[in-house]
Amino acid sequence: MIADGLSREIAVQGPMKLSRFMAIAVAHYYGGRDPFGQRGDFITAPEISQMFGEIVGVWAAVTWQMMGSPEALVLAELGPGRGTLMADLLRAAAGMPGFRQAARVHLVETSPALRRRQRRTLGETEVVWLDRVEQLPPGPAIIVANEFFDALPIDQYVLRADGWHERRVADGDEFHFVDGPKVERGDFPAAREGDIFEVNQAARDIAATLGRRFGQSLGAALVIDYGHAISAPGDTLQAVGRHRAAPPLSRPGEVDLTAHVDFAALARAAAPAAVSPLASQGSFLRRLGIELRAAKLAAARPDQAADLEAACQRLINPAGMGTLFKVLAISSAGLTDLPGFDA
Ligand SMILES: C[S@@+](CC[C@H](N)C(=O)[O-])C[C@H]1O[C@@H](n2cnc3c(N)ncnc32)[C@H](O)[C@@H]1O
Repeated sequence: MIADGLSREIAVQGPMKLSRFMAIAVAHYYGGRDPFGQRGDFITAPEISQMFGEIVGVWAAVTWQMMGSPEALVLAELGPGRGTLMADLLRAAAGMPGFRQAARVHLVETSPALRRRQRRTLGETEVVWLDRVEQLPPGPAIIVANEFFDALPIDQYVLRADGWHERRVADGDEFHFVDGPKVERGDFPAAREGDIFEVNQAARDIAATLGRRFGQSLGAALVIDYGHAISAPGDTLQAVGRHRAAPPLSRPGEVDLTAHVDFAALARAAAPAAVSPLASQGSFLRRLGIELRAAKLAAARPDQAADLEAACQRLINPAGMGTLFKVLAISSAGLTDLPGFDA
């Protein structure tokens, strides 16, 4: 049990940084299981419908063309889950002459169980697996990440009468938060006592790596995730198991632990690369033709028309994933006006 290991470490070293607690819990959670789908813990956009990965494939193909159709392309996905998005992307992007021949598929994935699942999904496709974004080879690149940044470990800070304190994880009958060391933060002068602010340093570091890469060489990264457009106080740490919310610290390693992505912080960290306007998932997918794709699929499979329409609506509707989920592109300076975003 990972909880026992966490308890032992806390007993010896005292209350633990939340980012360490979350990193250990998330690594254990994904390390040995495939949590996706109706029978799992939660469902992601690529698992809702093939249309999601196909539209990302259209984006990748057009972006590659805007890059001047380089003969060799590092095509990478961060946190690819079951590999479904990449499979659907490759099938759709194959419609662009030359894309498939150029693309060398790289998957950044730390979970051994999910690497095996990705191998099954991608069949004969040649794939290079990596542990870290920094290990991606140089050269023109297109990188996609869906619900990857939300799984990276955060720290939280709480405002008390004497200033901001880090929140740490202590143990007792159960894991719980205690106030940790005081820290200097000047970023939210209007914050009130009790407000919580989150920092995802791992996400910022990866955005900075992408920013440095596209500051120097050709390419673009597409980040799709749920989160907020402006950095602001708020407690967004959440756990989900069997499609239901659970107390965030209650069952480390047994439930999915995530936090909303602070897109403004990612955009700041990505300098000197270019950053797109932030699009909602709904508008991004619509601009790239998801409704047309749904109609086409429905015409070919009339018995599934209702399901296809429902899946499309779930992906684009504000009541579903359309507004909460957002899309940001980080790209080299010459590659602006990428498809799917407001000009
Ligand atoms: C919520 S899942 C998203 C899966 C997939 N992108 C999808 O949309 O279905 C998070 C993915 O990120 C991977 N992951 C989590 N932390 C990681 C890390 N630090 N480095 C690389 N992969 C990580 C997980 O193993 C899993 O594949």
